[in-house]
Amino acid sequence: MLPVAEPWITNRELDYVSDAVGRGWISPKGEYVREFESEFAAFVGSEHALATSSGTSALHLSLVAAGIGPGDEVIVPDLTWIACANVVKWVGAEPVFADVTEDTFLLDPDAVRSALTTDTAAVMPVHLYGFPCQMDSILLIAEEHGLFVVEDAAEAHGAAYRGEHVGSLGDVGCFSFYGNKILTTGQGGMITTDDDEIAERIRLYRRDGMSRSRKYFHEVVGFNYRLTNMQGAVGVAQLERAEEILAAKRRVAAEYRDRLADTPVRFQTEREWATPSYWMNAPLFESGEDRDAVVAALEDADVETRPFFYPLHDNPPYRGRQSRHFPVSMDLYDRGLNLPSGPLLESGDVARVCDVVRGALE
Ligand SMILES: Cc1ncc(COP(=O)(O)O)c(C=O)c1O
Repeated sequence: MLPVAEPWITNRELDYVSDAVGRGWISPKGEYVREFESEFAAFVGSEHALATSSGTSALHLSLVAAGIGPGDEVIVPDLTWIACANVVKWVGAEPVFADVTEDTFLLDPDAVRSALTTDTAAVMPVHLYGFPCQMDSILLIAEEHGLFVVEDAAEAHGAAYRGEHVGSLGDVGCFSFYGNKILTTGQGGMITTDDDEIAERIRLYRRDGMSRSRKYFHEVVGFNYRLTNMQGAVGVAQLERAEEILAAKRRVAAEYRDRLADTPVRFQTEREWATPSYWMNAPLFESGEDRDAVVAALEDADVETRPFFYPLHDNPPYRGRQSRHFPVSMDLYDRGLNLPSGPLLESGDVARVCDVVRGALE
């Protein structure tokens, strides 16, 4: 079975993990976590990088550190991973969904404007599938309305908006290192920020609210959201290999676009401001029937595919809470597909997938 995503692990990752384990530094305390944080801050171009147990805990800690809570609303795109809405609920605030644009699949700044209320406290642009959101417009709205900006860059390591790494533009950026992500530690996350106070609050809440100056004295109700040194060891190796991994992602994306150029399928539009990192190759078909025929043919050919995220507003915990409609996210969900996109795919693999897609469409 050709998988949708697979980690690219080499001897370097194994050597660093074996070093961490061999020296007994297996929990969150350890040199690799610190090195991973400082190297990641440099990679993104932000002042601080704080390692967390997952991308989800990174998002949660960011909202906690920003003081978002009951009575607040957070604008979240309708087409994204469910954690984006769940973390808003966890802090006692309400997610308010905004539709995405048909060409980029990304948060639509006009939809953000129309979702604003006097309770809006934050906005969460999600750089879906490694494609940067239109940050100028979103940051302008945030500035006009005093909103906290949480960039969800879980899927977008290495992507840039007008030359600046995603995750360095908002108040905080959140990354995931789950096994299917561009850079992985198996499970893990990172928060990037230039704000010293936010960084300090994140450190406090990440370590069970324990005072930095007084052991076992807990200033707030915190969480245990740290990354282990074993995961940090994998992260340091992955980051050292980031350019090699990103080059492989670009190669695979270019091959898909090239091989399917003369078919009716369409990929996420690359806008002039964007340097995508192509986490997923996510073609859009002319109809849901075409998409389903392709899924069936690929399954027969032992090729794994995934549907798009089911639009958040219609998942049971959120259903019926929103007054707006989300025609674009529903339409993309109906017609879109995730194809195998891992960095280890060879040209022959991509060619085989594209031949099956073509065959199913003909
Ligand atoms: C857009 C987005 N946000 C957040 C997350 C959460 O990351 P994690 O799985 O590391 O908790 C993911 C990934 O799973 C994601 O794709």
